[in-house]
Amino acid sequence: MPKSVVLAYSGGLDTSVAVRWMIDELDVEVIAVACDVGQGGDWDAVKERAKAAGAVEAIVADVREEFARDYCGPVLRANALYENQYPLVSALSRPVIVKELVRVAREHGADAVAHGCTGKGNDQVRFEVATRALAPDLDIVAPVRVWGMTRDDSIDYAERHGIPLTASREKIYSIDDNLWGRAIECGEMEDPWAEPPDGVWEMTRLKAEDPREITIAFERGTPVAVDGDAMPMHQLVGQLNEIVGAYAYGRLDMVENRRVGIKSRETYEAPAALALIMAHRDLESITLERDLQRQKIALEHRYAELVYDGLWFSPLRNALDAFVDSSQEFVTGEVRLRLDKGRCIVVGRRSDHSLYDYGLATYDAADSFNHDDSEGFVRLWGLGIQTWAARQTQAHREHGQAEG
Ligand code: ARG
Repeated sequence: MPKSVVLAYSGGLDTSVAVRWMIDELDVEVIAVACDVGQGGDWDAVKERAKAAGAVEAIVADVREEFARDYCGPVLRANALYENQYPLVSALSRPVIVKELVRVAREHGADAVAHGCTGKGNDQVRFEVATRALAPDLDIVAPVRVWGMTRDDSIDYAERHGIPLTASREKIYSIDDNLWGRAIECGEMEDPWAEPPDGVWEMTRLKAEDPREITIAFERGTPVAVDGDAMPMHQLVGQLNEIVGAYAYGRLDMVENRRVGIKSRETYEAPAALALIMAHRDLESITLERDLQRQKIALEHRYAELVYDGLWFSPLRNALDAFVDSSQEFVTGEVRLRLDKGRCIVVGRRSDHSLYDYGLATYDAADSFNHDDSEGFVRLWGLGIQTWAARQTQAHREHGQAEG
């Protein structure tokens, strides 16, 4: 049994009870680590709660900058959307949190890390596989998966042990949020036919009245400025969440395939992430050579699957990252987005490295395309199909019979 455990602490009911439960049941000391990945919150209160639950130490780690630069940046450059929709919000924060847990575990000579995930979700997979990758020698403790307490049991337990709570007995939603977006599960949304109640939306409440345009500048695939204001990515994403979210853009309602084999109805809000991926992908359309662009599109979903499935720290993701980074050499330029109630669309793009050639594309007098080249090109392009059609298709048989 481990003697010292570093717990991924959120300040919520489960992880607060987990602190006390591990001390009592496993006879360990618990170091609580709360990671600020942009979810907001009263960190002093979080620390106090961890201490009140019995933690020997409570640490708050501000990893927002690292999270934006080293995690949101790569998935944005990869245009990674799980099942073509979900921008990996929760999946993305787990590896950065684990990195921090392992750092603290090493610093304190701890023997194990712990998380508050249940046995039905993806997050246990991400926490544990990432821990195996970074620190194969550390034990992993998952109290919520083994203690068999209901929500009411946990509240009773907390009350018995004097752990201050913000949770009420009828909690309806399970929420996980960070800079890249917000996931809302459970409650009436467990019926996939039921519309999410209006109250679940927080980042995407309609506040803006008038339509507006914004320009996003990218350098080698990384967003660097909004309307000419240069800023680091964590600030840029924060600002875009405000601007784009105010137009009620960035909601998702989907049934997704969890790693553990369950289909799950999920709602998300990710205004900045979805607007940035749209803009970035658009900029690629003028800056990536055709075959590079096609190959990249083919790899993007694989990238998203790896992240979703907890394989952030893996040789394949490293290799895909190398491909993506190489592809971004000329993805520098600007994209114009137009915002209007519930909508965000691209209305323009430009780049000094653009492969868009007006002379080739235009139908007016400036046309520089050699039309004569097309006749032979198209004939050869279709030659294989023509041969097939003449010898192996119904058209051939009918034509052959008519002839014969
Ligand atoms: N289904 C999403 C995912 O697997 C969201 C998980 C949200 N986590 C939570 N504890 N509510 O990435």
